[in-house]
Amino acid sequence: MKRILVTGATGQIGSELVPFLRSRYGADRVIAIGHSKKPSHELQDSGPYMSLDIRNHAALDDIISHLEIGTVYHLAALLSAVAENQPLFAWDININGLLNVLESAKKHKCKLFHPSSIGAFGATTPHVDTPQETIQRPNSMYGVAKVSAELLCDYYFTRYHLDTRGVRFPGLISHKTMPGGGTTDYAVDIFYAALRKKKYTCFLRPDTRLDMMYMPDALRATVEIMEADPARLCYRNAYNISAMSFTPQELAAEISKHITGFQITYEIDPVRQAIADSWPDNMDDTPAREQWDWKSEYNLEQMTMDMLNNLANQAPKR
Ligand code: SER
Repeated sequence: MKRILVTGATGQIGSELVPFLRSRYGADRVIAIGHSKKPSHELQDSGPYMSLDIRNHAALDDIISHLEIGTVYHLAALLSAVAENQPLFAWDININGLLNVLESAKKHKCKLFHPSSIGAFGATTPHVDTPQETIQRPNSMYGVAKVSAELLCDYYFTRYHLDTRGVRFPGLISHKTMPGGGTTDYAVDIFYAALRKKKYTCFLRPDTRLDMMYMPDALRATVEIMEADPARLCYRNAYNISAMSFTPQELAAEISKHITGFQITYEIDPVRQAIADSWPDNMDDTPAREQWDWKSEYNLEQMTMDMLNNLANQAPKR
């Protein structure tokens, strides 16, 4: 049976998707690649790991060819805030890296998963129940690259019949891996701060509503769309998927139910606030529900409880 390749394996999604795929399809079948030469023990000890710069097309193509890769989960990318600090570098990684993967996937007839994001929308997009098909005019480099990536996935599907599939992830929350340089990072950081110090200084305004998802739902969505019947899929760019929608104020209130005396204060980062203001409050995920039976499991209450229970073992006791 052909093998599976995960790029960006040491990143926020990759470091959890690799173990998830290994337990589902077999450890030796899932090859993890990341830019880090020192990945976590979990990643390195649980199956094959290789260090690779996604911009090195020859080396990537060699891996796909020699290891008989049949499916690629291409996660290597920069998140929104770091992309805004280094726009050309972000374009190089997020787009030229994707083009390398698309070309090799075409050549070796691989199936491809590529994650899009709420970042593929912009200020002129309807923010409430954002439709699957709507205005996409982001003004961050992260968003520009996400829209371009969606179009490229569509193009390779139509032109070359490459089996491209993707979802638009909301902000992702996880107790295992810290995000690095995203706009929705506050929704992870806040849990660590709450457990350690009972207080958190948030870089977004209290009323900034964003679409969010707990990592177990995100991992399940990734596998479910890849296992979906291709005949039912009308969209090859990316599907809206949604789970919960909240503001920093609402998340803080939920955490306060479990941590007495928790306090949130605000010091706004104008760059991330501008990005967040341009993103949807919540996406309408009807096509995903209808075409591949997507359904989220975690809401704000369940996610908060699960995050605190899991992190309590890693942080000083409350
Ligand atoms: N969570 C990402 C970020 O904040 C958006 O997809 O950059």
